[in-house]
Amino acid sequence: MADHPLIAHKLTVLRDVNTDSPTFRRLVEELVALLAYEATREVRVETVEVTTPVATTTGTHISTPRPLVVPILRAGLGMLEGMSKLLPTAEVGFLGMLRDETTLEAVTYANRLPQDITGRQTFLLDPMLATGGTLIMAIDYLLELGAKDVTAICLLAAPEGIDAVRQSVGDRAEVKIVVAAVDERLNAKGYIVPGLGDAGDRLYG
Ligand code: PRP
Repeated sequence: MADHPLIAHKLTVLRDVNTDSPTFRRLVEELVALLAYEATREVRVETVEVTTPVATTTGTHISTPRPLVVPILRAGLGMLEGMSKLLPTAEVGFLGMLRDETTLEAVTYANRLPQDITGRQTFLLDPMLATGGTLIMAIDYLLELGAKDVTAICLLAAPEGIDAVRQSVGDRAEVKIVVAAVDERLNAKGYIVPGLGDAGDRLYG
């Protein structure tokens, strides 16, 4: 869990039912940038030589193969811009998923990922980790394509969802979840409490 006063402040405004959609979108982008800083701490790098106007020295570049960033539509799309600003060389894949409102099961309606991602660092973007069904399915797609190193960046999570993801992944891969806050629980409708409502609706509804 990210612990920083800027994150806590922005998240509080995001939760507020009176925050309008343009402000909500801007805050999501800002929060992602702060979380991405933490999430990319172990991004693979290589040493390069750089010539400054004064001298030649050694520096650091993000190494190949390029990281893969995958927003889970709809709500995850609101996080892509903020992530891309920090990691502009990453490739971007897309997953379109929604949660059936009655069964709470995840349904995939779009899957546009590279064919082989063996050995690549991958970042999944989704603001809400509720029951975990969506993230579990998304992680499984990445593992099937060869990923072993997955980082999920979320704004809010329920403890139930985090447990479910951990249990599903087991020792199949290294999965890290970076989240701005872990809330109390899920309600009967599968919403995070206190949460921030439906992130997709608040971004794009
Ligand atoms: C929300 C959210 C996650 C998912 C979390 O998406 O953005 O993708 O639900 O729930 P889970 O952990 O219980 O699976 P939603 O189905 O509302 O789709 P949207 O992003 O298109 O609004």
